[in-house]
Amino acid sequence: MTSLDTIISLAKRRGFIFPGSDIYGGLAGTWDYGPLGVLLKENIKREWWRAARQLPEGKTFSLDSSIISSAKVWQSSGHTDHFTDPLVECKKCKRRFRADHIESDKCQECGGELTAPRSFNMMFKTSVGAVEDESSTAYLRPETAQGIFINFKNIIDAFHPKLAFGIAQIGKAFRNEITPRNFVFRSREFEQMELEYFCDPKDADKYFSDMRDARMQWFLDLGIKKENLRFHDYAPDELAHYSKATTDIEYRFGLSKDGFSELEGVANRTDFDLKNHFVGYRWVGDDFIRSEDGFIPNVIEPSVGVDRALLAFLIDAYDEDELAGDKRAVLRLHPKLAPIKVAVFPLVSNKENVVAKAREVFDMLNSDRSSLITAWWDDIGNIGKRYRRQDEIGTPWCVTVDYQTLEDGTVTVRDRDTAKQERVAISEIAGRFIEKLS
Ligand code: GAP
Repeated sequence: MTSLDTIISLAKRRGFIFPGSDIYGGLAGTWDYGPLGVLLKENIKREWWRAARQLPEGKTFSLDSSIISSAKVWQSSGHTDHFTDPLVECKKCKRRFRADHIESDKCQECGGELTAPRSFNMMFKTSVGAVEDESSTAYLRPETAQGIFINFKNIIDAFHPKLAFGIAQIGKAFRNEITPRNFVFRSREFEQMELEYFCDPKDADKYFSDMRDARMQWFLDLGIKKENLRFHDYAPDELAHYSKATTDIEYRFGLSKDGFSELEGVANRTDFDLKNHFVGYRWVGDDFIRSEDGFIPNVIEPSVGVDRALLAFLIDAYDEDELAGDKRAVLRLHPKLAPIKVAVFPLVSNKENVVAKAREVFDMLNSDRSSLITAWWDDIGNIGKRYRRQDEIGTPWCVTVDYQTLEDGTVTVRDRDTAKQERVAISEIAGRFIEKLS
């Protein structure tokens, strides 16, 4: 099992993820994404959007709602009253812990006595405008979902969709976690990918079950090993106040006793949110209007953190093996997720004609119109070292331009997983990569 420390170290060393506010000693629960982290996140999000827009039935609308939102939103959604964690504080060292995360009634840092648990609201409060008073209070959203619910009627009025349909968004969410921990698994600022699928209540159970399977399949299709994933169906007493049924997709992060922790939640949120935001509204005919008749659509919600998914993809892809007696670390990421698809090397960096030809190949790949190829130039160190660097960041293919290239227009293409090399005509390489990526 890959340790989290191995991933944290690789992520920093290779430019995926850095600690937030690092040069000033860090800010707990915040992380900065470096060049490769940005590309990896972008690829995860692209795959999520594709799946969200290709639901077997109905239509999916996209949304990008604001992060700062009115206090009234969170009153209606129940977050002001219920979005709390039980907090205990050490009377001696003043450290704070989540009561449900501690294993004894003494402080795990200094052995001091702990206070009784009290409810701690996890929303970040802010103030909008020049005057700071009750009326200027606003919150950074702790989930993107509410932005979707409060725009439900706007979407209906603009597009007149029939049930069932989805509204999806990806965006930042903020939670003042008492104990952010385990790298990007639990942070204070993170990104969510959420889809709210609105349907007739009579169809909700079927859509819930389909959604659960579809979301599991998404992870499997992107290469996560089956044995590292499982469903966790909530018992009635585990359900959140808004939910009729919830299933977590758990991944073997190796952070809990049996290794499995929540990766994504799929919930049947019933009519809870729409009922609270749109008091007195009902779905009648094909419209959502003020009425005593009709029904309030039910909502099936798959919700996953981009960062947590990214961590699962990194842990799952990490491998160490031996090549010709040399130990190597390799990220066996699905090519669709790999931050860099192809690295281009001139065999030697001091022969002008080889370098110029390699530049030509690089420019051709880099200007690929399908936008599927992300190319990377590397001419530092020997070829073996360059391969190792690319293996460690998950690049599926490396292209080397050498003397033979100048004679017959072929390059070597080396495969990350098998380390096999073959000679391919320059005119064929882009097509070959695009085919594998599309
Ligand atoms: N709208 C439902 C909702 O927000 P949640 O279980 O609180 O449900 C959904 O969050 C997903 O968001 C989680 O499964 C996880 O992937 C991610 N997530 C939640 N809190 C997080 C945190 N503090 N850091 C990173 N990801 C988090």
